[in-house]
Amino acid sequence: MKIVSIIGARPQFIKCAPVSRALRKDHQEILVHTGQHYDENMSGIFFEELSIPTPDHHLGIGSGSHGAQTGRMLLAIEEVLLKEAPDMVLVYGDTNSTLAGALAAAKLHIPVAHVEAGLRSFDRSMPEEINRVLTDHASDLLFVPTENGVANLAREGIEKGVHRVGDVMVDALLFNRELAARSDILNRLDLKAGAYYLATVHRASNTDDEQHLRSIMAAFAGLDRPVIFPVHPRTRKFLEQYGILAERNVHLIEPLPYLDMLRLLNQAAAVLTDSGGVQKEAYILQVPCITLRENTEWVETVEDGWNVLAGADCGRIIAAVGQMTGDRRNQQKGHSAHYGDGTAADEIRRIISAFDKV
Ligand code: UD1
Repeated sequence: MKIVSIIGARPQFIKCAPVSRALRKDHQEILVHTGQHYDENMSGIFFEELSIPTPDHHLGIGSGSHGAQTGRMLLAIEEVLLKEAPDMVLVYGDTNSTLAGALAAAKLHIPVAHVEAGLRSFDRSMPEEINRVLTDHASDLLFVPTENGVANLAREGIEKGVHRVGDVMVDALLFNRELAARSDILNRLDLKAGAYYLATVHRASNTDDEQHLRSIMAAFAGLDRPVIFPVHPRTRKFLEQYGILAERNVHLIEPLPYLDMLRLLNQAAAVLTDSGGVQKEAYILQVPCITLRENTEWVETVEDGWNVLAGADCGRIIAAVGQMTGDRRNQQKGHSAHYGDGTAADEIRRIISAFDKV
């Protein structure tokens, strides 16, 4: 089967690594990079360290407003699909690259497979929520990580083509865990295990809103340990624009490669984040997580006590960190294989192969 896989943003590179490795055992894969993320430390470095094949097509779309970015991708992806005439298009997650890929394929009547289908924050003000809903409704195969995801789809009337396969980020994490353990990032940053917090912030609701970003940075400054904060380019842009300076215990560093990030996360006292992927990685590594949002798609992490929603409020964030890092907290938490056992990519390959024979 000839499959076009569409990726473009940092988390999609991580997700595609295990799936691409699995798919290429049985199928021909054509990899398309939309160019949504283009900085070396947001893109190129992941291809190297995760051994992702070089994309066959690089569309070079870059940044822009949501409409312009998605529209330019739609045009360029359609051209590639007409040229390649694939049997299926595979898209990942919830970015503008995901939606553009799904829409371009569906309009050409090419079957669409969506990896990480069924997730909902129930917050339509998030661009990602619109991307998820529309992509799921345009998909023929829906690879869902969790039971909650299957239920979300059923509520929207989607039952055909739905497969709960687990989460491909677990595959990536387990595959790379030993390599990550060898990262010397703690030495390089002069950090001791358990003696720092890790932070990431990039959601539009936190970066584009000056009060939210100020309040989050004030919370970091009020914490009792150093805060290591790899800064996404959109966040750096807004910090500069609003003139927000980092206090002494807050260390702004460049975005990290995957293995360094895993190592830093694994050894942190807690992580503060608005990323979806980081919430899940923290759960798997059993690191307490404080989510800088009012909702999450990864509700299991909250239900089991490993994650708490603190929004962008300074006082709430500081209190949540205290609550999550207090004595003996870890013993009181539940932990299950909600996200699968690291075999999601092989399941996806098996189901795609069977789809071929229908
Ligand atoms: C995108 C996804 C988000 C995902 C995130 C992962 C959408 C709507 N959002 O958000 O779901 O969690 O990726 O990181 O698709 N920029 C650079 N260099 C880059 C990339 C971006 O400087 O390599 C800057 C540009 O100024 C750009 C801004 O970051 O305007 C935002 O980038 P964009 O691709 O629009 O969305 P993300 O915030 O990265």
